Amino acid sequence: MEQNATPETISREAAHEAGPPRTVSRKVFVKTYGCQMNVYDSQRMADALAAEGYVPTEAMEEADLVLLNTCHIREKAAEKVYSELGRIRQLKEARARQGRETVIGVAGCVAQAEGHEILRRAPAVDLVIGPQTYHRLPSVVARARRGQKVVETDYAVEDKFEHLPAPGKRAVRSRGVTAFLTVQEGCDKFCTFCVVPYTRGAEVSRPVAQIVAEAERLAAAGVRELTLLGQNVNAWHGEGADGREWGLGELLFRLAEVPGIERLRYTTSHPRDMDDALIAAHRDLPKLMPYLHLPVQAGSDRILKAMNRRHTAEEYLRLIDRIRAARPDIAMSGDFIVGFPGETEEDFEQTMRIVRAVGYAQAFSFKYSARPGTPGAEMEEQVPEAVKDARLQRLQALLSEQQQAFAQGLVGATIDLLLEKPGRQAGQLVGRSPWLQPVVVDEKAGAIGDIVRVRVERAGPNSLFAVPVPGSGLGRDGASALGEEHA
Ligand code: 5AD
Ligand code: SF4
Repeated sequence: MEQNATPETISREAAHEAGPPRTVSRKVFVKTYGCQMNVYDSQRMADALAAEGYVPTEAMEEADLVLLNTCHIREKAAEKVYSELGRIRQLKEARARQGRETVIGVAGCVAQAEGHEILRRAPAVDLVIGPQTYHRLPSVVARARRGQKVVETDYAVEDKFEHLPAPGKRAVRSRGVTAFLTVQEGCDKFCTFCVVPYTRGAEVSRPVAQIVAEAERLAAAGVRELTLLGQNVNAWHGEGADGREWGLGELLFRLAEVPGIERLRYTTSHPRDMDDALIAAHRDLPKLMPYLHLPVQAGSDRILKAMNRRHTAEEYLRLIDRIRAARPDIAMSGDFIVGFPGETEEDFEQTMRIVRAVGYAQAFSFKYSARPGTPGAEMEEQVPEAVKDARLQRLQALLSEQQQAFAQGLVGATIDLLLEKPGRQAGQLVGRSPWLQPVVVDEKAGAIGDIVRVRVERAGPNSLFAVPVPGSGLGRDGASALGEEHA
């Protein structure tokens, strides 16, 4: 199957499909940090470069172009980039001694936030390109190759998606049967801890026709599951095919009609944008998986207010009640920040309380990190690191207990599994449950891209182990991707 192709074959195929290379083929190594949107952006950057004859490589030392697609969300993420750049500089020097040239590029949110500062701190860098301008990457790389230092971080006036080449079928196949699809970018919410409104800019929704065309192209290449992406994905809106204003709920219904697409997901959502149509989609659209990442960040109303979340803990809990009434088997996922400025022990207890009240199947929790330029960084009463550490430990212990309980609750249940890739051990395949957990089965269960019905036998710390249900008759054309038999 395509999934077994080596990076070498993938890259040759991708380059071949884009037409004859205009230049001698060169190799590009892309390292991605941060969120799923960066994963998507890295793929699109590779598509743009493939059209210029660049083939991807997994080995940094053989790359003529090294691109770091970076994340600025927390200080740690941003600092990682600089330590990596130190290593890459040595590589560049070693290659130069062999007469080989290496162009080093920094893309993504650190690029957007720090621009020229990156060239000052890491002089080996040749180009800096932001998330709104990466469709210009081929010309930026060409200028860098001529010896210019290029910083391209303006907000582009043109729509980058209109200018990016579509990946060929083989390139899509090499990425698997699940795909990300950005439908919305940027954020107007201005939570006081967050850099996203500054790095990704104002909220922009892609038009319906552009999204549908991309979904059709992905489906035609064998993609069966789409995850719609946006920093604030449920703020997506646009003019529908019927001339009415659509929200994400209507868009999901439209995408469910794309032949070949069997499963839909979306991330990340803001509680304020969970409208009735989207909740109705969870009730009425079987292809929409029963899993919702809906960050609350904190459980204390005082802290939620200081974070400018614009909802209370109670409003969040009532919203979850409504979502669960619409889709009783929905699994909740969330993000939490501990140690926001001014957070007292009592405030933190409220976070623990909301976690207990919701019961999360999955969650991500972080120590507050003061980000330059955000209101939170200016607030007094910053919480000492040791206090944040202790709170994070307590919160993570509770969340991991809940995650384990959720996984254990599935033992014995019959679920539908989309087979995604070979497992770590020979003879195994790995798929995802409707609730996004990795599930390991014997390779005889089916082929990659099939949706198979399995029974969960055992829950490990990170995956479930399952066996096929004999005679379930699901496969490429299997009807249901529902987990309706979830115990
Ligand atoms: N410090 C810590 N965590 C943060 N997040 C966003 N900004 C910060 C910050 N300054 C977390 C939030 C968000 C997730 C993507 O990262 O929980 O939902
Ligand atoms: Fe990181 Fe946010 Fe940028 Fe994603 S959008 S890479 S999470 S800063």
